[in-house]
Amino acid sequence: MNKNPETEIKFSDKFTEEDLKIRADFPLLNKYDMAYLDNAATSQKPECVLNEEKKFYEEYNANPLRGLYNLSEMATEKYESARVTVQKFINAASEREIIFTRNASESLNLLAYSLGDLLLNEGDEIAISIMEHHSNMLPWQHAAKRKGAVLKYIECDMQGNVTEEELESVITEKTKIVAFTQISNVFGRLNDMKRLAEICHRKGAVLVADGAQSVPHIPVDVRALDVDFLAFSGHKMFAPMGIGVLYGKEEYLEKMPPFLTGGEMIDSVTREGAVYAELPHKFEAGTVNAAGAAGLAEAIRYIEKIGFDKIEERENKLTAYALWEMGKISHVKVIGSEDPDEHHGIITFTVEGVHPHDVAYILSADNIAVRAGHHCAQPLMKHLGVMSTTRASFAFYNTMEEVDRFIESLKDLRRKMGYAE
Ligand SMILES: Cc1ncc(COP(=O)(O)O)c(C=O)c1O
Repeated sequence: MNKNPETEIKFSDKFTEEDLKIRADFPLLNKYDMAYLDNAATSQKPECVLNEEKKFYEEYNANPLRGLYNLSEMATEKYESARVTVQKFINAASEREIIFTRNASESLNLLAYSLGDLLLNEGDEIAISIMEHHSNMLPWQHAAKRKGAVLKYIECDMQGNVTEEELESVITEKTKIVAFTQISNVFGRLNDMKRLAEICHRKGAVLVADGAQSVPHIPVDVRALDVDFLAFSGHKMFAPMGIGVLYGKEEYLEKMPPFLTGGEMIDSVTREGAVYAELPHKFEAGTVNAAGAAGLAEAIRYIEKIGFDKIEERENKLTAYALWEMGKISHVKVIGSEDPDEHHGIITFTVEGVHPHDVAYILSADNIAVRAGHHCAQPLMKHLGVMSTTRASFAFYNTMEEVDRFIESLKDLRRKMGYAE
């Protein structure tokens, strides 16, 4: 059931001192009179992150991991200390388990290729959920074709719920790899990774968690969850674009073949072959994005300064209020659960009789930025019986006033399309 947040939310909450203090950290938010509600696509960046990236080029710029001179060593130190920051943030056992990539998509492609080579033989099975983003689906489709494996889908209901029976029946002793999103970019629902890891491990499969939508919003502890791999992107968690992370248990990473080859990832090379570098560098071919890694480390320090308690409290409050108000608009239908706690800042919806692109376009005319389309989850859209939808997604820097603007525009939307109400 929808929870009534009206009893808890006072009007004065709509313009709090806290809102203003937080928003002062984000230059872009203060530049435009826009309600930015597309945070699941990418987040805005605080000034400290922008400064940290700039500082790298002003004070540390040399090719890391190569030069023997001071500046290169400083660049290396900056890059490697960012790795330790990430390691501690997700509670990995060692920095050797943190691979820097460009984004979650690259992390998942690396895995599908390299873990696929290590584990898959003809007739083996890979299981993924039907709610996966294309970035956690296409790499596995490709791996299955390449290795002669079978790709199976774990189904969910209209609320994004996956039953225990479904998991137990699709994941079998033949399953070598299970890839599953921790928070769906369409439903916003949190999947129980710890329970899933137990099932996978009992059946002899490894679990790949897609953390693109979870790591920015909730604390993720890879050892407590016991996931074998976790992929996520910096740009969705207030860090620059072009830096991502793959966490993997050392026991697997050690045995996995490299994905990309070339400079930096070798120990020695002969005419016939090469001895690869130690972890994590074996998986980081070519010149790395050290400035991006420094920016990511700063974003993590920023998140830790704000605190996940505050982040979750603010995002949940915004989501509850928006859902409550959307529930009053008769032609709006929210995808997934009615419970705000199961949305994690993501509200995907349709407006009867109005194409999602028109919804986004009309909202945009009122300076509200939302996403419309299939959200890179076409098989899920088909499963839900819709071609496309509109998605509003919140970050902790959004405000109740922005929700009000969104709701006002939404209320008027059908009339603008020529409907009587
Ligand atoms: C659940 C999920 N997985 C993976 C991705 C891919 O992230 P990126 O485009 O940063 O690689 C996204 C992006 O929206 C996502 O929502």
